[in-house]
Amino acid sequence: MPRLGGPGGLLLLGCLLLVPPGAACPAPCECSEPARTVKCVQKELSAVPPGIPAYTRNLFITGNRIPRLASRDFQGLPRLVTLSLANNRIVAVETGAFSALPSLRSLDLSNNRLAAVHPDAFGVGNSSLWALNLSRALHNASALLPLAAAIARGGFHNLSRLELASNGIVYLPLGLFSGLAGLRHLDLRNNSLVDVKNATFAGLDLEHLDLTANALKTLRAEALAELGRQPHLHLFLQDNPFVCSCDIEDLVGWLNRSRQAADADRLTCAFPRALQNTSLLALAGAELGCHSSPHGERALQTSYALLGAVLGLLGVAFLFVLYLNRRGLKGWVTSTRGACRSLLEQRRYRYEMGAESRAARVSTLDISANAQGRRQATAANFGTARGGRRGSLEPRLRRPGLFSPPRGGPWQDRAQDDVGPTSRPSGEHRPALSPAAPRSLCFPCTLAPGRDGQLLSVPLDPCGAVTR
Ligand SMILES: *[C@@H]1O[C@H](CO)[C@@H](O)[C@H](O)[C@H]1NC(C)=O
Ligand SMILES: *[C@@H]1O[C@H](CO)[C@@H](O)[C@H](O)[C@H]1NC(C)=O
Ligand SMILES: *[C@@H]1O[C@H](CO)[C@@H](O)[C@H](O)[C@H]1NC(C)=O
Ligand SMILES: *[C@@H]1O[C@H](CO)[C@@H](O)[C@H](O)[C@H]1NC(C)=O
Ligand SMILES: *[C@@H]1O[C@H](CO)[C@@H](O)[C@H](O)[C@H]1NC(C)=O
Ligand SMILES: *[C@@H]1O[C@H](CO)[C@@H](O)[C@H](O)[C@H]1NC(C)=O
Ligand SMILES: *[C@@H]1O[C@H](CO)[C@@H](O)[C@H](O)[C@H]1NC(C)=O
Ligand SMILES: *[C@@H]1O[C@H](CO)[C@@H](O)[C@H](O)[C@H]1NC(C)=O
Repeated sequence: MPRLGGPGGLLLLGCLLLVPPGAACPAPCECSEPARTVKCVQKELSAVPPGIPAYTRNLFITGNRIPRLASRDFQGLPRLVTLSLANNRIVAVETGAFSALPSLRSLDLSNNRLAAVHPDAFGVGNSSLWALNLSRALHNASALLPLAAAIARGGFHNLSRLELASNGIVYLPLGLFSGLAGLRHLDLRNNSLVDVKNATFAGLDLEHLDLTANALKTLRAEALAELGRQPHLHLFLQDNPFVCSCDIEDLVGWLNRSRQAADADRLTCAFPRALQNTSLLALAGAELGCHSSPHGERALQTSYALLGAVLGLLGVAFLFVLYLNRRGLKGWVTSTRGACRSLLEQRRYRYEMGAESRAARVSTLDISANAQGRRQATAANFGTARGGRRGSLEPRLRRPGLFSPPRGGPWQDRAQDDVGPTSRPSGEHRPALSPAAPRSLCFPCTLAPGRDGQLLSVPLDPCGAVTR
C-alpha cells in the first residue's frame, strides 16, 4: 500500500479524480466519507496508519498496540474534531504530536500507559481542545508531572472537560489547573487523593467536581472556603474514608449549610469503628468531643494543673497538722509503749513467780533452728510444769507473735494461771505488778508495733512470744 497520507498523498488523490473515495482509506481501517469518520479499531496496529483522508472529522484508533505517538502522525487533518486513541498502550507522546490539529475539540487518551509526555506535545498556547480524557491513562502517578507541564504549555483556554479518573494520583501538582479558566467538569474519581489544598482548585469556576473514591479523611476549612467561592459547583465526595473525629467538624458544618455537596446525604464515616456507616449529616451538632478545640484543651489542662495544686496543698496542710500535733502523737506513742511495757512487766512478774530458771530455757528454745526440736523442748519444758499441755502450745510456736489463740479451751485456762507464758484473746492492760522487772525484756515489745502497723493489737503477741 503506497503512502497516501500527508500533502503528497492528497495531491496524488486530487490528480487522480477517477479513483473511488474508498481507496484513500488506510488498509486496515474503515472509512466513511459521508460520516467523515475513520475507524481503526482493534487492528493490531503498532503505529498510527498513514493516509488518513483529509475529510476526517472523527478518527477512532483504539484497541491497538501503539507505544509511541510521533510528531507527524496527525498532519494534514485540518477538519479533525474528535480523536480517540483509547486503549492503545501508548507510553510516549513526542513533541508537537497534537499541535497540527486546529479544529480538535475532543481528545481521548484513556486506558493507556503514558509515562513520557513531551512538554510541547499539545503545542504551545492556543489549544482548541474542549474535552480531554485522561482516565486510566497514566503508567503511574509519576507521569502526572510531565503531563501537567504539557497541559500548562498547551494553553487550554477552551478546555471545559478534563477526566483524570483512576490514575492513582496522590497529590495534585500545584498550578495543574491554574491555566484552565474555562474548566467546568473535572473528574478525579478513583484516585488516592489524601488532601485538597485551598490553592488546588483556586480561581476555577467548576460546575462538576468528582472526588468520589479517593483517600480523603476530611476537607479542611480553607479548601471548603475556596470551593464555596465557586457558585455553580456540584461536588461529589462519596466513597472516601472519612474519619469522624474533631477534624471533620468543618466539613460536617459545611455539608449541613452548603448546597454544593451533591451527595451529602450519602456520605458516611469510615472511622472510628463505633461511627462506621454513620451519615456525616447526622453528626451535625453532635458531640465529637472537640468543641472549642484548642481553647477547650487548654481549659482542661488548666483544670488538671489546678487539681494537682489543690492536692499538693492538702498534702502540705496534712503534714503541717501532723507537725503541730507532734506532741500529741509523741504522747500517744509513749502511752502505747507504756501500756505494752506495763503489760509485759505484769507478765514478767507472773513469770518470775512461777519459775526463775525458765528465762534461760526460753532463750535456748528461740535459738534452736529445728522446729521439731523446738516443739520437743517445749513439750519437755512444760511437761514438767504441767502434764498434757503440749497440744495447746504447738500453734503458737509455729507462728510466734501472729497467732491469736482461740477462745475457751486450754488457752483460757492458762490465761488465768499464774504460772508460765500466757496470751489473751484481747488486749487487756493491767498495771505493772513488778516495777523492778528488767528493762531488756521489754525491748522486742517496743519494736513490734512498727512492724505490724497496729499499735494497739500487736503488743500482746510479741510479748507472749518473747516471754515464752
Ligand atoms: C491561536 O489560534 C488562532 C487560530 O485558532 C491563531 O490565529 C492564533 O495565531 C493563535 N495564537 C497563538 C498565540 O498561537
Ligand atoms: C475557544 O472557544 C471560542 C468559543 O467557543 C472560540 O471562538 C475560539 O476560537 C476558541 N479558541 C480556540 C483557540 O479554539
Ligand atoms: C473517558 O474514558 C473513560 C475510560 O475509558 C470512559 O469510561 C469515559 O466514558 C470517557 N469519557 C468520555 C466523556 O467519553
Ligand atoms: C513510575 O514508574 C517509573 C517507571 O517504571 C518508576 O521509575 C517510578 O518510580 C514509578 N513511580 C511510582 C510513584 O511508582
Ligand atoms: C480504580 O483505579 C485503579 C487503578 O488506579 C483500577 O485498577 C481500578 O479498576 C479502578 N476502579 C474502578 C472502579 O474504576
Ligand atoms: C490558603 O490558606 C492559607 C492559610 O489559611 C492562606 O494563608 C493562603 O492565603 C490560602 N491560599 C489561597 C490561595 O487561598
Ligand atoms: C458498613 O457497611 C459496610 C458495607 O455496607 C458493611 O460491610 C459493614 O459491615 C458496615 N459496618 C458497620 C459497623 O455497620
Ligand atoms: C444544620 O442546618 C439546619 C438548617 O439548614 C440548621 O437548623 C441546623 O442548626 C444546622 N446544624 C448545625 C449543627 O449547624
